[in-house]
Formats: sequence, structure tokens, C-alpha cells
Amino acid sequence: MLSFSFIATRAVHFASTVVIAGIFIFLAFVEAPVLGENRDHTWPGAAAFHSRLLGIAWLSLAVSIVSGAAWLLLVATNITGSSLAQVISDGSAQTLLTRTQFGHTWQARVVLAVLLAAALLRFNRKAEWRPAERFVAAALATGFVGSLAWSGHGGATPGLRGEAHLTADALHLIAAGAWIGGLVPLRLLLSSVAQAAGPLGVGIARDVTLRFSTLGIAAVATLIVSGLFNTWILVGSVSGLVEFQYGRLLLMKLALFGVLLAVAAFNRLRLTPRLVAAAANASHASIDAVRRLKRNCLVETALGLAILIMVGALGTISPGMHMHGS
Ligand code: HEM
Repeated sequence: MLSFSFIATRAVHFASTVVIAGIFIFLAFVEAPVLGENRDHTWPGAAAFHSRLLGIAWLSLAVSIVSGAAWLLLVATNITGSSLAQVISDGSAQTLLTRTQFGHTWQARVVLAVLLAAALLRFNRKAEWRPAERFVAAALATGFVGSLAWSGHGGATPGLRGEAHLTADALHLIAAGAWIGGLVPLRLLLSSVAQAAGPLGVGIARDVTLRFSTLGIAAVATLIVSGLFNTWILVGSVSGLVEFQYGRLLLMKLALFGVLLAVAAFNRLRLTPRLVAAAANASHASIDAVRRLKRNCLVETALGLAILIMVGALGTISPGMHMHGS
């Protein structure tokens, strides 16, 4: 029971944290350069799009805070073997929060969550978001997702190797946020401009898709390099990938990643060029391309979520390397 709720809590926390990071990175590096300062007046549905996005951002932040608290309590029950009620009443949850690296990471992340809430309030109140504000919000969101590295296996590797593992893990998490988290605002925007139709909407869809695609390529490259490094540190050998439960689960994650990459490649190599070619005259082909990109965003998001559920489990299993005792 404990491991199922632990895996589910970790997966929910990863998913909500990845979405909040994806939204802020999308707003700063994908949407704003295309829509410019006056974001709510660029196409008829713009204001409605931004308020729906804000709703999803608030929900993701709330879910990440609640699931973060649950994660901390489950770790305390895991360490002490006591019940949830006991770890709260006997102070062991408080000791975990105030006396451990895990607890200190959680405290720092609570501060980041509060600052992100302030950024969301400002986003809601002000139609014009200056570049500096966007970048500060994106930096806070990047810190919020990247700091999860200190709660994973990366936080347990000693010495210089540990520093390198933590850095790789933080980059891995930020890339997951930029790509998988960014799919949520991308799909929402494509839905909104698809309804607006017309050359303006299709032009925005083209420009946003091209920018997101470039961000996606950088994120995929970072995920592969940091993921291979993580694998080398934690599994250490090809045999470790098949001999142990951890390795086999990682292989399943990589299989899902392969399917996700194929869908993303189809978007990049087929649908995006079709949209770019047809966008000039907002023809039916361009609307069709927007609709197919929108559908594929959903497929990618579902595959990304499945990967995060696997990661929820990976972090609860001892990696193969430790089994060898090397
Ligand atoms: C869409 C693609 C991917 C996503 C969303 C993703 C997401 C994640 C997340 C959220 C973590 C947790 C980090 C932590 O607990 O600190 C993680 C860990 C990891 N990822 Fe990925 N990842 C992806 C692709 C990859 C790839 C391509 C590889 C290998 C080449 C890989 C290998 C690993 C390893 C070895 C870990 C360490 C798990 C642990 O801490 O035990 N990942 N990944």
C-alpha cells in the first residue's frame, strides 16, 4: 500500500511540477516573442486562452504543493515505520523537514512555490508582461522543477560524481518541464487559434509551433544526454539494464520515450512544414494541420504522463549499481 501511494504521489508531484514549469517557460520563450507585449488583443480568443491557461497554472501549483506535502509525510512514515498520524503528532515529519537535505530542499521549494503564486497574481492583473517579469517567472519555475533533483537518487551520490549527477538530474527535470509541460499551453493555444481560424490565427499557430519545435529539440537533446549520464551513474552496465527491476523499468521508460520521439518527429518533419506551407492563405490544409498538431499534442502529453508515472516508481527502487556494491 505504502509503495503504491508513494509512487502515485511522486508521479502526481512530477506531473503538476512539470506542467507549471512548462507554462512559464512557454510564456517566456515561445508565446511572448510571437504575440509581443499586448498579448490579450492578438486574436479574438486570446484573453479567454490566457485566463484558461492561468486556471491550469493555479491548479498545477496547488496540486504540486499538496502532493509535495504528501511526499514528505510518506517519506517520514517510510523512515519511521509509523502511521501518517503518528509522524505528524510525534514530530518526526517536522524533524525530516528541518534536519535533512530532503527537508531543506522542500523548504526552498515552498518558497519558490509562493513566489510562483505571486507571479501568477501579477500575470492575472497585468495584460502587459515586461520581458524581465517573464524571465524572472520562468527562472523561478525552472528552479521549482530543477530542485527536485535534490530529492532523487541524484541527491544520494557522494563527492564530485554526486555534483555531476545532481547537475545532470536538474537539467533532465528542466528539459522534461520545457517539453512535456510545454505541450499543455501549446495544445491550448492551438485549440484557441483553430477556433479563430483566419490567416491571423493560422499565422500565430505557425510561429508558435516553429518556436516550440526548436525548444523541443533542445529539450530532447538535453533529456538524452542527461538521461544517459544518469543511467551510467545509476545502472553502470548494459547487463544492469536487464538483470535488475530498476533497469527493466528504465528500459520500459526508454521504449515509451522512443514512441514519443516518433510522434514528435512526425510533427516536426510532416505537420509543421504542411502548416508553414499552407499558412500564407489560411487554406483548409493549414486548419487541418493545426487540428492534427493539436491531436498529436494530446498523444505526446499522454505518453509523457506515462513516463512520469514510471519515474514515480523508478525513484522508489534501488538502482542496479548499488546491487553490485561497486
Ligand atoms: C520525455 C522524456 C523523459 C522524461 C519526461 C523524463 C523524466 C524524468 C524525471 C522527472 C526524472 C526524475 C528525476 C529525479 O527523481 O530526480 C527522471 C529520471 C531519470 N531519467 Fe528521465 N526522462 C525522460 C527521458 C529519459 C531518457 C531518454 C533517459 C535515458 C537515456 C532517461 C533516464 C533517466 C534516469 C536514469 C533517471 C534517474 C531516475 C532515478 O533518479 O532513479 N530519461 N526522468
